Amino acid sequence: MANMMWAGRFTKEIDSRVNDFNSSISFDARMYRFDIEGSMAHAAMLGDCGIIDKSESEAIVEGLKGILADIDSGALQIDTTAEDIHMFVESELTKRLGDTGKRLHTARSRNDQVALDVRMTAKYELGEIRALTVSLIKTITDIAEQNLTTVMPGYTHLQRAQPITFGHHLMAYAMMLLRDLGRLDDCYKRTNIMPLGSGALASTTYPINRQQVCDALGFDEITQNSLDGVSDRDFCVEFVSALSLLMMHLSRFSEEIILWCSWEFKFIELDDAYATGSSIMPQKKNPDVTELIRGKTGRVYGDLNTLLTMLKGLPLAYNKDMQEDKEALFDACDTVKLCLKTFEPMLATMRVLPDNMRNAAARGFINATDCADYLVKKGLPFRDAYKITGTLVHICIEKGLTLETLPIEEYKALCETFDTDVYDAISLDTCVMQRKAAGGPAPESVKAQIEYVRAKLEK
Ligand code: ARG
Repeated sequence: MANMMWAGRFTKEIDSRVNDFNSSISFDARMYRFDIEGSMAHAAMLGDCGIIDKSESEAIVEGLKGILADIDSGALQIDTTAEDIHMFVESELTKRLGDTGKRLHTARSRNDQVALDVRMTAKYELGEIRALTVSLIKTITDIAEQNLTTVMPGYTHLQRAQPITFGHHLMAYAMMLLRDLGRLDDCYKRTNIMPLGSGALASTTYPINRQQVCDALGFDEITQNSLDGVSDRDFCVEFVSALSLLMMHLSRFSEEIILWCSWEFKFIELDDAYATGSSIMPQKKNPDVTELIRGKTGRVYGDLNTLLTMLKGLPLAYNKDMQEDKEALFDACDTVKLCLKTFEPMLATMRVLPDNMRNAAARGFINATDCADYLVKKGLPFRDAYKITGTLVHICIEKGLTLETLPIEEYKALCETFDTDVYDAISLDTCVMQRKAAGGPAPESVKAQIEYVRAKLEK
């Protein structure tokens, strides 16, 4: 009883089931570093503002340093029966310093304390995920650079559509991930705002210096309304929303890799270290990594839904529901990091099979648009050229030929404008080389895309 922090008001021990239910230490323990750093900044400020004695403030900062070092080294185990990491650190401090430790929580509530800790954690995780994303983009652009002339079919409706290069295809993912970076950076701006000093909800009567804490902890500015300061979790929603999009991109990429390494496509071969076998079928080599990424995308979407739903009915200010923010946020971060860490080396080690890509590009009449464009360049209206080419494709299918192998007589029989230069116009290489509009698959266009992305990463 006497151990309970709020013992004065209560006449009974807490039911052990309620205690377990209420506790968040099993998942908020991971914030110990940020909790302690936040407390050190708070204690220093209390001393500087004359709210507690300078000597006690210094003793608290030293005590907290010791606790941090001891948790880091493993000398101090985090007590799993504590209510949360904030209570654990404070009670450990009091164990070590006696009454001085009890002064730490002056002018502070766990409500603004947890808001601070979650923001510091989110800032850290944003940095981690940013770095992993940058690294993945670099790997993608490197592989793209090696495949500027690797012709493959481009698809719409998963039907062969027009010729592109593997480099061009990869750079589409680089662009998606670049937008993800932009979203992470944008989210960082709104996360980097310091809520401590909001108190439980109505700030405090002590003459605190919030700017000092803000500067000490490397935040851009302080929150401007104490109710909002303790109850804002928008940054969590924004973060996990950005992560959901990032996962959606990884999942689409994964889906393509799954297709590409099937016997139906065989555009790539995964390295043995990044594939798995079957317990019964000796021939199997499965793309489990990409399937798991596709599957785990649902987890991150679930985390986003958890946060949005948890917050939607909450009155101001802090409500205990908000304790549920952490598992969703942490799970999303951990899942994304795990996926990025595995996906990148898998991509870097996969073998590209250019011959198979080209063979696929050679079938499916993906140069039909170019055949029509050939006639247009010789003066025919596009719709007429389109119809003539459609008829040619039909003839090819009937005869088991391709546009490349169809004799010139067949062309001429349908339209006098055709000449033998049509074969050059519809060669896959020409089709790709000619698509040099900005954003297109021609090697020079893809090179420009690579330079664009690299320049963005430099900044
Ligand atoms: N463990 C709590 C959380 O994660 C800390 C804040 C508790 N505040 C309170 N008034 N009960 O949200």
